[in-house]
Amino acid sequence: MLARGRLPTQPRVGGVTERRNAEMNMKLAERMSRIGTETAFEAAARARALEATGRSVIHLEIGEPDFDTPANIREAAKRALDRGATHYSPTVGIPELRAAIATDATARKGFGVSPDRVVVVPGGKPVMFFAILALVNEGDEVIYPDPGFPIYESMANYVGAVAVPCPIRQENGFRLDPAELASLVTARTKLVIINSPANPTGGVSTRQDLERIAAVAREHDLTVLADEIYGRTLYEGEHVSIASLPGMAERTIVLDGFSKTYAMTGWRLGYAIVPEALVTPFSRLIVNSVSCTNAATQWAGVEALTGPQDAVDAMVAEFKARRDIIVDGLNSIPGITCLRPSGAFYVFPDISATGLTGAELADRLLNEGGVSALAGTAFGHVSVHHLRFSYANSRENIVEAVRRTRAVVEPLVEARNGAAVS
Ligand SMILES: Cc1ncc(COP(=O)(O)O)c(C=O)c1O
Repeated sequence: MLARGRLPTQPRVGGVTERRNAEMNMKLAERMSRIGTETAFEAAARARALEATGRSVIHLEIGEPDFDTPANIREAAKRALDRGATHYSPTVGIPELRAAIATDATARKGFGVSPDRVVVVPGGKPVMFFAILALVNEGDEVIYPDPGFPIYESMANYVGAVAVPCPIRQENGFRLDPAELASLVTARTKLVIINSPANPTGGVSTRQDLERIAAVAREHDLTVLADEIYGRTLYEGEHVSIASLPGMAERTIVLDGFSKTYAMTGWRLGYAIVPEALVTPFSRLIVNSVSCTNAATQWAGVEALTGPQDAVDAMVAEFKARRDIIVDGLNSIPGITCLRPSGAFYVFPDISATGLTGAELADRLLNEGGVSALAGTAFGHVSVHHLRFSYANSRENIVEAVRRTRAVVEPLVEARNGAAVS
């Protein structure tokens, strides 16, 4: 058990100076014992530590495009800096970017978005933070996908809400099942979080799924946080925003951003499209935390949305080719079953036939094979026998990672089969 107010990763006291001792004993706020983390960053650090010892590691743990931000976007930021975009900017974003987002979202998401409903923030993540802080009381219930992006559950717990997992099942193509969602709704449910295309599974909700989820939200008067950050990383089918369905724009917070689509993870640029009643609360939360989003980054965002889109198309085409390489490669390894996801840049294979948990296999892959992947349980509680591989890496590295994975997994499965026969 963790001591009250002690972070799980906080080192124990012992053999240190008095000052350091006092620092370590600092009593943290009780809520800090409830906050979670995103394991991908820790796994990346572990993999880099191993690399520092001279070992070769292929990084398939982190969820960020390996491409550089397109040159026209970088140039726009440089020009903005030279023009003097070095000051505070409006809390909810510069008008030019809010307008560009509204135009783009109206065209792509299928509902009329006006600039005054657009709130610009430093990345997609703050939208989760602000939505939950603005809406959810202690004791309220927040339904979130499991497996899903870990910050949903972490933030719900942090504010003292009850985080209610909605299992995402491989049998259902990793699409959230609206009937299962409906069965989890209670009088305390406040917020439902959905994510399509999804991290970590690549699952994509169909229009019909979303219509049924929307019906649940309308019937029980729920707010939906729709994480659409992978909306353009889609290989088959259509991207449907739940906010475009009847009666939904007024109860949906759309989360989107530039990190994945334009390979801009380090710039920190994202946005929310919110119902009118949430514009001022979001603005207050921004004033109270970050003041505004980096000004030059916002000008880069204007160029991203209004400039040529061929770099985005090229990235998506390349991701699709890599998806096929990794899916075919993993499925050719006995003991691994991998669905072919329609979106995002992750695969989420079932490795139960290896006899190991995802966490055990992830460790062995890193230490014996030099492949860094994440355990399914980095994304919740249900996916004990899954791994997540990000294929935001070169085709060559993916082929080599599959070869290394085979070298670790094949002997495990052979030993297991041999034991079963004898
Ligand atoms: C589903 C999902 N939503 C949001 C984010 C956060 O994006 P950003 O880096 O823009 O904060 C991520 C990043 O991995 C993600 O996978």
